[in-house]
Formats: sequence, C-alpha cells, structure tokens
Amino acid sequence: MHDALLDAIDSAWLRRFRPRLRNWYTAHARDLPWRRTRDPYRIWISEIMLQQTTVAAVIPYYRRFLDRFPTVRKLAAAEESDVLRLWEGLGYYSRARNIHRAAQKIVQEHRARFPTDVHTLQTLPGIGRYTAGAIASFAFDQPAPILEANTLRLYSRLLGFDRDPRSASGQKLLWEFGQRILPKSSPGQFNQALIELGASLCAPTDPNCRACPVALVCRAFREGRQQEIPFRSRRQQITEVVEVSLAVRKSGRYLLRQRGDQERWAGMWDFPRFEIAGQGNGAPTATQRRKLVDQLAQSTGIDAELGSVLTEIRHSVTRYRIRLLCLEAAHRGGRLHRRNGPQQWVAPRDFYKFPLSVTGRKLAGMLANQQ
Ligand code: ADE
Repeated sequence: MHDALLDAIDSAWLRRFRPRLRNWYTAHARDLPWRRTRDPYRIWISEIMLQQTTVAAVIPYYRRFLDRFPTVRKLAAAEESDVLRLWEGLGYYSRARNIHRAAQKIVQEHRARFPTDVHTLQTLPGIGRYTAGAIASFAFDQPAPILEANTLRLYSRLLGFDRDPRSASGQKLLWEFGQRILPKSSPGQFNQALIELGASLCAPTDPNCRACPVALVCRAFREGRQQEIPFRSRRQQITEVVEVSLAVRKSGRYLLRQRGDQERWAGMWDFPRFEIAGQGNGAPTATQRRKLVDQLAQSTGIDAELGSVLTEIRHSVTRYRIRLLCLEAAHRGGRLHRRNGPQQWVAPRDFYKFPLSVTGRKLAGMLANQQ
C-alpha cells in the first residue's frame, strides 16, 4: 500500500525540513548522558530504560547500572537477581531480564561484540525494530529509521496523518516516513533530533508550534489540527482490584517468594500476595481471611494465623488500579515447599539483598522499622 500523504515528502520538502531540524537540535538539545557516547552497549541500556519511562526517572538508574555493569561481559556474568535489584522501581521488569539474556547471547554468539545491523540486533531478546534502529543509527551511524512514542506523534503531525498510528497501515506509513526523511550524513544525530523535537516542542497536549523550527512544513500546523493529531484510541478501561500481602513472621524472619515467569513482576521477590473480591472499606472479612489462610497453605506450605492490617498501599500497574492491604501473619505450622518457585525466610536486615516489587519494598521498609 502506498499512502498519498507521502507524496508531499519530496526533495523540496526535505530541503526545508532537514537543515532546520539540525540547526535547532544543535542549539537546543539537552545534554543527556547517553548522547555523550557511541558505545552501543550504553546506548542499548539507555534505550531499554527509556521505554515507557521518563528521562528524569531514567538518569539515576542509567548511571548506577553502568557503574555496576560497565561492559556487556560484566552484565552477562551477573546474577539475574542483581540485575533486577538495580532495576527495582523502574517497572516493566521483563526489560531487565531480557537485557541480561541478550548480554549473555552477545557474549556467547557474537564474541561480546555488538551486532551492527538491524536484522541481527532484532534477534536479541527485548530488541525490537525501534531499539535496533536506535542502536544502529546512534552507535554505528547507519541510516536506520526509528519510531517510538515521541516520533510517532511528530511524524503523524508533520504528515497530517489523522488515522490510528498504531494500526498496521499506520505503522507502515510512519516507518516509511521515518526512512524517507533520514539524511545520508549523520543519521544518528538526525534521529536524536527527531526524538528531541517530539519530546519537547511537539508535546502531546499544547504543542509549542510558535517555537517549532519545522512548523512551516507541518501539515497538522497548517491545518490547525495539531491538537487532534495523532488520533487517540479510547483510553483503556481502568480495572479496580483489591489485593492482600501477607507479612508472615517466623522467629523474627519473614516469608518471601520469587514471582514466577507467568506472573506480573516475574523474577522479582515479594511477600505472598493474593487477590480478594473488591470491597469498599478496610480489612478483609472473616470468610476472606479463611480463604487467605487456605491460599497461603496451598501456595507455600505454610499455615499462619492472620493478624491486623499494617498498612494500605495504593498503586497502579498498566490498566489496574490496586488497593493493597498488608496484613501481619504469624507462622503456626507447616514447612515450605518449592512447587511455586523459590521461597525463603528472610530477616529484615537482609531485605536489601532481594529485588522486591515497589510495594514489597514499602512493606519491607515498614517491617524493618518495627524491629
Ligand atoms: N526516548 C527514547 N530514546 C530517547 C533518547 N535517546 N533521548 C531522549 N529521549 C528518548
């Protein structure tokens, strides 16, 4: 399929667009740590961290991660739990597990040298078309296009594309556009400039078109439609859930379990955690408590007596809004089994050794302070 919108992107259009974008970038680009390097390893780590995460949140994680794992060999040799520990709080933990696996693959199958072409890059866990294009262009200056949240918005507006940019035909068009606009010289810097413009002036709401260097070639601006482009699908429904975390205590230690591959936060450690039927107020009912005792016994082998609610934490994960009730519980019998993966009794002074979910870390902090 060829989209007529691309017909506007001819050599006259490109002659106006490219130098303006470059000049603006040279004058206005933020000085970000991953823009000071051509090391594909560092660029890769930054791009994975930046998925679904803001620049401000990423910077401290990026620094800590690279201090600890300065090379792909060091990362490949690490324990997965140490990698997850450094990722703790960034969310989307499968990113960290994929990074670790990809590092091992790079060491074993590519003699610790980063592949330079987008096809080989995409055979690595967690590296999709965008990340491959980012690494190939930023590190190796290959003319590989990019399309992520910022450029998706920017490209849609430049083209005046008002249909769904996440549909198959929308993606095809926008990738094609990303390829067509790339210059032969310094395509890596050009891609950074595209991201930067999308991340700053070409903001999701109230884009600053008056300051934009390429407003004069932007179709959405020309038509006054920059607020309605890109097309947004109806927001996903938010689901409210109530969960219970059990701080099961035995001789001053608490039960932690590692979350399984099929669970959210796979690989992270947590207190035993169960969903209960939603209800408006406070503590679980007597029936729910009995069921929780059964679920705990089934999943861990431990029989416990539930105590009071220690705290309530609210948090959101993807489309779920979770009310988490943290309950004390005392071990009264049973032995740990390992049917559902690794479990351990852990003293509060050792909590820091385990990668915990964000809510797990909050509860761990409370328990450690109670000592
Ligand atoms: N978001 C994704 N990649 C980025 C980059 N290289 N710089 C700033 N923001 C980004």
